[in-house]
Amino acid sequence: MKFFIDTANIDQIKEAQDLGVLDGVTTNPSLMAKEGITGKDNILKHYVDICAIVNGDVSAEVVATDFDGIVREGEELAELHEQIVVKVPMIKEGVKALKYFSDKGIKTNCTLVFSAGQALLAAKAGATYVSPFLGRLDDISTDGLQLIEDIRLIYDNYGFETEILAASIRHTMHVINCAKLGADVMTGPLSSIDGLLKHPLTDSGLEKFLQDAKSFNL
Ligand code: E4P
Repeated sequence: MKFFIDTANIDQIKEAQDLGVLDGVTTNPSLMAKEGITGKDNILKHYVDICAIVNGDVSAEVVATDFDGIVREGEELAELHEQIVVKVPMIKEGVKALKYFSDKGIKTNCTLVFSAGQALLAAKAGATYVSPFLGRLDDISTDGLQLIEDIRLIYDNYGFETEILAASIRHTMHVINCAKLGADVMTGPLSSIDGLLKHPLTDSGLEKFLQDAKSFNL
């Protein structure tokens, strides 16, 4: 399972990269705005800066909603760096753009996916990644994990190569359950990665080992 971090915060991306388990980054307009990044040049530079920190794919989202606009923005983003993946919303014009990018060999991430039908459409259009938003479904009392399971089944039935990128991850159990269901990638906050480290028996066990090791007089 690949681990992506879902943030535009440079310090957090560096921290996750330093752990040695990071495979990529996802951003969205809300995450960019949260970091106070505004203006086209600054936004494009920020994507390039992120690419310099990580080795894997970096999703950069278009904000146009018409085909021509999505293509124009997406091509500009893709030209920034070979690690850029163009993030396209699951709308009709977006599906057309996914097919266009796919035919041109430009990597894509179909975002705002909330149903198996949308995921099927994204795969048919040749998306590199599909992003089902697990946490947002859970927020409205719908089973986000069931969606991951359904997409896995559908993609395996037909051998679709689109990778399932479990998005809107909120905590470690989301990560673990997505791994059990065979999601190809998860993207979440730094806390969802760091949280995997933690177990009280590890802490108490280490404390005892270190206590006993004091007699070694190293
Ligand atoms: C996906 O790529 C999105 O950036 C993200 O996972 C959305 O998560 P949220 O529901 O926590 O905003």
